Amino acid sequence: MNIVIVGPGAIGSLWATHLHQAGHQVALWGTQNATHWSLQCDEQPKLNFAYNQPDTLHRADLLLITVKAWQVASALPALLEQIADETILLFMHNGMGALEALSDRLAPYPVLLSTTTHGALKPAPDKVLHTGQGQTQIGPFNTPGARCEFVCDVLQHALPQVSWNQHIEHALWQKLAINCAINPLTAIEQISNGELADPRYRARLDNIIAEVAAVMRAEHIPVDQHALRATVDLVIAATARNRSSMHQDVVHQRQTEIDFINGYVVRKAQQHGLAVPVNQQLYQHIQSLQQSWTQA
Ligand SMILES: NC(=O)c1ccc[n+]([C@@H]2O[C@H](COP(=O)([O-])OP(=O)(O)OC[C@H]3O[C@@H](n4cnc5c(N)ncnc54)[C@H](OP(=O)(O)O)[C@@H]3O)[C@@H](O)[C@H]2O)c1
Repeated sequence: MNIVIVGPGAIGSLWATHLHQAGHQVALWGTQNATHWSLQCDEQPKLNFAYNQPDTLHRADLLLITVKAWQVASALPALLEQIADETILLFMHNGMGALEALSDRLAPYPVLLSTTTHGALKPAPDKVLHTGQGQTQIGPFNTPGARCEFVCDVLQHALPQVSWNQHIEHALWQKLAINCAINPLTAIEQISNGELADPRYRARLDNIIAEVAAVMRAEHIPVDQHALRATVDLVIAATARNRSSMHQDVVHQRQTEIDFINGYVVRKAQQHGLAVPVNQQLYQHIQSLQQSWTQA
C-alpha cells in the first residue's frame, strides 16, 4: 500500500519503520523543512523515506495520523485538500474528542480510530526506540470506515498484535478512563506510575474511576466499574517505572493532552448533567500549569 505517516514523532516513526519493513511504500509528513528523512528503529538498518512530498499524499491509500490529540485540528484541513476521496484515514492518539468538530469534513472518507499500548521514544530526529511491546485495536469511526477491516491485517503484518474492534469507542473509553486516573496525578505529583500504588492515592483513584464510569454509563458504553478500577491497578503495576506522557509534558512545559482526557470527561459530564468534581479539579490544575508557562 501507499502509506503516509502524518506526524512522524515517536509512535509514528515506530509504525513507519515497521510498515516499510513489511513491504509497503511509506512516506512521512511532518513539521520539518525537508524532502527526505531517514529513520532507524532500535538497531535495525537505517531506512530512507520521502518527506513532505505532496505527490505521496495525492496517491496515498492510507494516512496513519499520529499527531497528538490537540494537533489534529490544525494538521487535518491541509491534508484533506490533497488526498483522494477513497484515501483511508487512520487516527492513532490518546484521548477522545479530537475529531468531533471535524466529523462533517471527514464524512466522505473512510475513517478509522485506534488505540495502542506499544511504547516508543524518539531520542534523536533519526532514531526511534521501541520501548515496550503492546497491542493495537482499530475500528470504524464512520460507515465507510466499517468496510476497511483489511487494514487490521496490514498493521498486524507489520507490528503485531492488532485486532479489529467494531465498537472501537468502547476500547477508547476504557483507555481514556485509565489515562484520566494515571496521567494528571503523575504529572501534578511528578511521580512515576508505580508510585500511584501508595495507599494515599487510593481514594482519589477510586473517585476518578467512579466519575468516569458514571459518564460512560450515560454515554451507553458498557462498563464494569470494579473491573475498570482493578485494571488501573494492573496498569500502575505493569508500568511502575514509566513516567506518563503527561508527566513528561509537564516536566518539559509542553502542551499536554488534558483537554482530550479529563477535559473530555468534564465536557461529556456537563452534557449529561453529571458532576465530576475530581476530574474537574485535575483538569483545572493541569490547565493552570499550562497557562502559567504561556504567561511566563
Ligand atoms: N510515544 C508512545 O509511546 C505512545 C504510545 C501510545 C500512544 N501514544 C499517543 O500517540 C500520540 C503521538 O505521541 P508521540 O509520543 O508519538 O508524540 P510526538 O513524538 O510528539 O509525535 C507527534 C508528531 O507530530 C508532529 N506534528 C505536529 N503537528 C503536525 C502537523 N500539523 N503536521 C504533521 N506533523 C505534525 C510533531 O512534530 P513537532 O514535534 O515538530 O511538533 C511530532 O513529530 C499521542 O496522542 C500519544 O499520547 C504515544
